[in-house]
Amino acid sequence: MQKYVIEPSPPLHGEVKISGAKNSALPIMAATLLTSENCTISNIPQLLDTQNMRILLEFLGAEIESFVSKNSIKIVCKNPKNDVSNYDLVNKLRASILVCGPLLARTGKIKIPMPGGCQIGTRPINLHLKGFAALGAKITQGNGYIEARARKLIGTQIYLDFPSVGATENLIMAATLAEGNTTLENAATEPEIIDLAAFLNKLGASIHGAGTDTIKIVGKKSLSGANYKIIADRVEAGTLMIAAAITRGNVTLTDIIPEHLKPVTAKMRESGIDIVEGKTTIQVDATQKIKAADIKTLPFPGFPTDMQAPFTALLAVSDGTSVVIETIFENRFMHIPELRRMGASIKIDGRTAIIEGIKSLNGAIVRATDLRAGASLVIAGLAANNQTEVLDCEHIQRGYVNLEKKLTSLGASVILK
Ligand code: UD1
Repeated sequence: MQKYVIEPSPPLHGEVKISGAKNSALPIMAATLLTSENCTISNIPQLLDTQNMRILLEFLGAEIESFVSKNSIKIVCKNPKNDVSNYDLVNKLRASILVCGPLLARTGKIKIPMPGGCQIGTRPINLHLKGFAALGAKITQGNGYIEARARKLIGTQIYLDFPSVGATENLIMAATLAEGNTTLENAATEPEIIDLAAFLNKLGASIHGAGTDTIKIVGKKSLSGANYKIIADRVEAGTLMIAAAITRGNVTLTDIIPEHLKPVTAKMRESGIDIVEGKTTIQVDATQKIKAADIKTLPFPGFPTDMQAPFTALLAVSDGTSVVIETIFENRFMHIPELRRMGASIKIDGRTAIIEGIKSLNGAIVRATDLRAGASLVIAGLAANNQTEVLDCEHIQRGYVNLEKKLTSLGASVILK
């Protein structure tokens, strides 16, 4: 198990390039299973999660070539397998569920181990399965496996009880090869959904309305190949914005889509941080006092749940009392006991955290329990008045490309040991 050793940081300063979005790369890689032609995807972040998706696709019969210098990969899958009876592979990567939609549509069948819960919640997949059933698939569950079968998926109208990102992605992918038209209502509107739809449309799919809560898909007989560049990672960008703010720094993020960060930018401005948006850049200037702010996580364009833990670390050292409400995942306050070990004053009442801002945190040995919780502890470590060690930082490496190198390039001392 590796750890990050973090020294108290001077104000971060400089420019940092944001990597491709993990949460776009994973569904788009899975979507290549919908075609037998070559797909070249660029701006893929080199992360544990994308490596595991690659291993899964290869297990399913895809041939993959890497071009590391361009962060791109070429994928072709002539004859995909549809039996994913490999518990270890699926267990390593929650997003492995995203191969179900494409494989069901292309091969008429999918068998996969039932995904379990994880640190942040129980994470059921009932909405994915309900959608597949509405498209005509017969679902069976037993012995820890789920099987879905359909000679042909048939387009239909599907209303999602909740705008689940993963279910929206799986159902869009399945519907691209269904017979007839599908309408998804109460669909997720996250930027990564728009990215997936844009990729699929480049393959010849007909998807309209991605980014709104009603998405219409006209089923096609087959899809072709394409070259595609993935959007920038808004969560990595937001995390580095908060790192800049907590050190009272002045940092410019490049290669991003500022629009995707609106909910985070708005809260940072409310906290007294200056943000200047360019066309593909954001400059964060946090020389002023940081004020308390209240946050409620919501589906996009609300405040993202993935930014809740990092923002909580910032609020822990802000001026005043903040209230943070987590509505998306039932167990996403695992960073709070660790922040308390660093001296933070935070009470939890169900899905609400009440934070009394303090002047500074103390360094401590803390544990990353999941990806974003881990990132919040790294941020807290920058603002502590002595050394912090974040254990189990593999969780962080699942979703941040070279976080330690990016922070070090801005003046911090974060060492991977
Ligand atoms: C995706 C993101 C994750 C982000 C989350 C919410 C990826 C790879 N991951 O996860 O980083 O935190 O969106 O923005 O893109 N739910 C059900 N039934 C279902 C599906 C979901 O009850 O069938 C519930 C979940 O348990 C959770 C909520 O809906 O409480 C949101 O989940 P969902 O939007 O599906 O998140 P993911 O796609 O798993």
